[in-house]
Amino acid sequence: MSEIIRSLQHDLNEFGANLHFIGSDTLRGRHPGEHPDNFGAGVMAQPATPEAAAVIVRWCVDNNVPVVPQGGRTGLVGGGISRPGDLIVSTAKLNRIEAIDPLARTATVGAGVTLQALQEAAAEFGLTPGIDLAARGTATIGGMIATNAGGILAFRNGVMRHQVLGIEAVMPDGSLVSDLTRVLKVSAGPDIKQLLIGSEGAYGLVTRAVVKLESFNPQRATALVGVQDAASALALVGHFRAQPALQLEGAELMWRNFFLDSARERGFDLDWLEEETPAVLLMEVSAASEEDARGALEDGLAALWEEHDLSSGIVAASLDQARRFWALREESEFIYRVQPAAPSFDVSVPPGALDAYVAGLKARLKVVDAVFDAYVYGHIADGNLHISVIGDGVTAASVKEPIEDAVYTGVAEAGGSFSAEHGVGTEKRRAYLTFGNPARRAVAQAIKAALDPKNLFNPGKVPYGA
Ligand code: LAC
Ligand code: ZN
Repeated sequence: MSEIIRSLQHDLNEFGANLHFIGSDTLRGRHPGEHPDNFGAGVMAQPATPEAAAVIVRWCVDNNVPVVPQGGRTGLVGGGISRPGDLIVSTAKLNRIEAIDPLARTATVGAGVTLQALQEAAAEFGLTPGIDLAARGTATIGGMIATNAGGILAFRNGVMRHQVLGIEAVMPDGSLVSDLTRVLKVSAGPDIKQLLIGSEGAYGLVTRAVVKLESFNPQRATALVGVQDAASALALVGHFRAQPALQLEGAELMWRNFFLDSARERGFDLDWLEEETPAVLLMEVSAASEEDARGALEDGLAALWEEHDLSSGIVAASLDQARRFWALREESEFIYRVQPAAPSFDVSVPPGALDAYVAGLKARLKVVDAVFDAYVYGHIADGNLHISVIGDGVTAASVKEPIEDAVYTGVAEAGGSFSAEHGVGTEKRRAYLTFGNPARRAVAQAIKAALDPKNLFNPGKVPYGA
């Protein structure tokens, strides 16, 4: 048994059943999630109540043990990795949906509740968290708060920051700060919860949250449409967003090579697709009935077909087919089968700048190495692109920084961000220091020093100070 567990059990025995500890033997048999080093600490605490989480954190502070908060471990930037000597504090047992208030349209949940569990519970009231993302089955509300997750509905409802009304968290001094307001309007001084949202565990461990809910309409239609570029995709988005009887439920653009390789990997029939199509837009709309949604989608596409030189399209004939459309976009792990360890990025630029950015990116990559290319796909309506660089030699240490520079050049100048929805973690440290905003960094660092003077909360991730 690890030394940390032995002393935790010795010191914290009196707190009893609400403290669970898991040692390295057990962790070795479990899947570490999206990063192989997530279980590096070899020891995990699973508090079953927020108070137990506070007890654990106070013990860590007294004993100078770094705390690494973990939710669903779906993070893509190494924000949850841990090292020997750290204590992982998992929210897995804080997984109760405590209340859904259909009148106020709020849900009060433990931080370890998965997005899908909340979606399913809210759907019984005709509601939805209003945030949706591919990792829904595993990603937790607490982890989504920590990274300020975005996903496919951000263009409509905003990101996690806009959907969270209340937070309870253990702060780095071990105090439990409960700010579980369940109202939209709070104009009562600085909003401390906003500090925690997007802090990637560096300012505290979220234990509970109140999430705003939106109407959920299952009457939908889904299409794949060949488009010339992001501008024409955005024209479609604009058209459907302007229809009073419709709601746009998703608009995901996949540039040609991503779409073709994803389709190939999944054995998806491409007979309908015009061969030279530069990009494919996945679109979903909802309306009063499935027939209305489908009719509006078909009419809208027909109206815009010539003007926007739409090359080909297909409307899903069943829910099952619609799911297969979504899988082409969401099951992006095929990238790492095609290109193991492909350098991957998550940037945002204002939608109007997308085509120029993508053209510039491809040209800059060719300058690094003529064989380099990129898979580009993402949440087009808010300008968020996922990029994986491919080609012989992309993983060589010598091209790491040139590739990063090729990806990040012009992003800040365009008014975008080097990390749109995945966070900084360990993988984007250099980007944070090189392409982040220095004044903002200085403020973040001052807050970190005030809240966590011993630097015990998720150290070594978002760089504070040196
Ligand atoms: C997605 C994740 C990678 O959009 O953000 O699939
Ligand atoms: Zn995404």
